[in-house]
Amino acid sequence: MKKKLKVGLIGSTGRMGQEIEKILGASSKSELFYAPLRKEKLDEKKAALVDVWIDFSQPEAFAGNLKMAEKFKKPFVCGTTGFTAKEKALLKKYAAKIPLLWSSNMSLGVAVLNEALKSFGAIPHFDFQIEEIHHNKKKDKPSGTAITLQENLNAVIGKAAPEPLAIRGGGVFGVHKIFALSDEEVITFEHQALNRTVFARGAVTAAEWLANKKPGLYQMRDVLFGK
Ligand SMILES: NC(=O)c1ccc[n+]([C@@H]2O[C@H](COP(=O)([O-])OP(=O)(O)OC[C@H]3O[C@@H](n4cnc5c(N)ncnc54)[C@H](OP(=O)(O)O)[C@@H]3O)[C@@H](O)[C@H]2O)c1
Repeated sequence: MKKKLKVGLIGSTGRMGQEIEKILGASSKSELFYAPLRKEKLDEKKAALVDVWIDFSQPEAFAGNLKMAEKFKKPFVCGTTGFTAKEKALLKKYAAKIPLLWSSNMSLGVAVLNEALKSFGAIPHFDFQIEEIHHNKKKDKPSGTAITLQENLNAVIGKAAPEPLAIRGGGVFGVHKIFALSDEEVITFEHQALNRTVFARGAVTAAEWLANKKPGLYQMRDVLFGK
């Protein structure tokens, strides 16, 4: 039997961490090997044996997590959002040393949505607006996904679309809409996450894909379309 990929999980007590544990528990390719807790001292012997890390925690933990992955030269998948310029600079720095995949949205559908919005490059004279809806416990606003969509959209249409509209309420897992509007027509691209599992499954798929890659900065689109 083929050996399973040993996954290290940061943020295992959280909503996303719990979903990832479930996926790994049922996987034939990878397994949960080590889930260090925030308040515990790192077990360096175990950390050295991890094949790939998955991190869904908070931005303030990112620098320390990357340092640890780099020490043992391990690939690192991160889904944490709310990144500032400081964390984005860390992505570039550490991607020179380890395979690093960060995505504000690990669903395959949003990777496709990011590709689809490239077609708006044909109608840059339209008005554009992004809108997102999330559950009332989400800390960052607008969502990391909306920020990424906005950055990609602005690059495609060659101008700055208005800031994303963000709605917080209820138990919504994640809705993202991109409107393109003219006097005569409206186009809406929409993605709905129907559960939290979609992000966890995407993260595990990304970790399995990243495990044998060279150092570099990867995105979810690379898992689907290649880099
Ligand atoms: N990319 C995606 O597809 C995607 C999808 C959903 C969510 N997210 C993002 O993923 C992150 C986690 O979301 P969540 O809903 O799982 O949050 P959560 O339920 O609040 O869980 C956060 C986890 O991170 C740990 N943590 C918090 N601060 C930490 C620190 N300073 N150092 C180390 N660990 C720390 C917590 O540990 P304790 O138990 O010790 O507090 C907990 O295990 C958020 O940034 C969220 O926006 C991304």
